[in-house]
Amino acid sequence: MVDRDKSSETSKDFYVDVPAETPGFFLKGSAHLNWGMKNRLSRIFNPKSGNAVMLAFDHGYIMGPTSGLERIDLSIPPLLPYTDCMMCARGALRACISPEVDIPLVMRCSTGATILKELSNEVIGVTVQDAVSMNAAAVTTQAYIGGEYEKETLGNLARLINEGNLYGVPTLGVTAVGRELVRDARYLGLASRVVAELGVHFVKTYYCEPGFDEVVAGCPVPIVIAGGKKIPEPDALAMAYKAIDQGASGVDMGRNIFLAEDPVAMIQAVRAVVHDGEKSDKAYDLYQTLKHEKE
Ligand code: 5RP
Repeated sequence: MVDRDKSSETSKDFYVDVPAETPGFFLKGSAHLNWGMKNRLSRIFNPKSGNAVMLAFDHGYIMGPTSGLERIDLSIPPLLPYTDCMMCARGALRACISPEVDIPLVMRCSTGATILKELSNEVIGVTVQDAVSMNAAAVTTQAYIGGEYEKETLGNLARLINEGNLYGVPTLGVTAVGRELVRDARYLGLASRVVAELGVHFVKTYYCEPGFDEVVAGCPVPIVIAGGKKIPEPDALAMAYKAIDQGASGVDMGRNIFLAEDPVAMIQAVRAVVHDGEKSDKAYDLYQTLKHEKE
């Protein structure tokens, strides 16, 4: 019976002269999402910089024990203090990552193809409910636009979006590229726009030049870039810088971090680019400094 306490009534203050704020939301295309979606996205993307350093180590789901990820339990934990968000498969997470880590997770939910067969022939193997049971901040699968199973992979993405919407769980749409398709702005722009219109909350695609700025502009939700095949560290940092400079909201990098000569130094250099807008030559200096400090 709270109302009986008259003394506490006299201490009420409704601040009638202070209008309630109606804040927007820091992420592109996300202002009309519900609270749960926004909260999860705010865990993935840093509200101060607006960007995210995602660490992808889901390669094994199609490639087996690929170089750098032979022992996820050894190679990934040292990188986690510098990681804003992990992207991996259910089994790797459960077996190799401590549940004590407080880092959001984008759960890889697709399966059905390996590098031995047609990659686009995927299905959804992990339900959104199971992803939520493992505390996922978002779910993901890839769409093979122009690929043999284009329709099916878009269907997989639609299923995740529909289920995720029930629980306030955002979906990351990965624009996978078939072996025969050219990664130019026209193709990546089309693929990114298609998955955004389907309803993904953020997109992972590749950096390209020229025209990456138009890929970003034509996509109504945030874009993070994949790193792709391992390239020299200064080149990977230059790619990250150009992507951020042209409007990307972060990276979802794998091989160019965990296959770097010094992965822990590399992820810190990538962070400097993504969160502090550091130019790539400065970021490479930082990489070398951190690397040499250990020698
Ligand atoms: C594949 C993926 C992978 O996670 C991603 O491509 C791996 O990152 P990187 O290319 O930087 O090694 O989403 O579809």
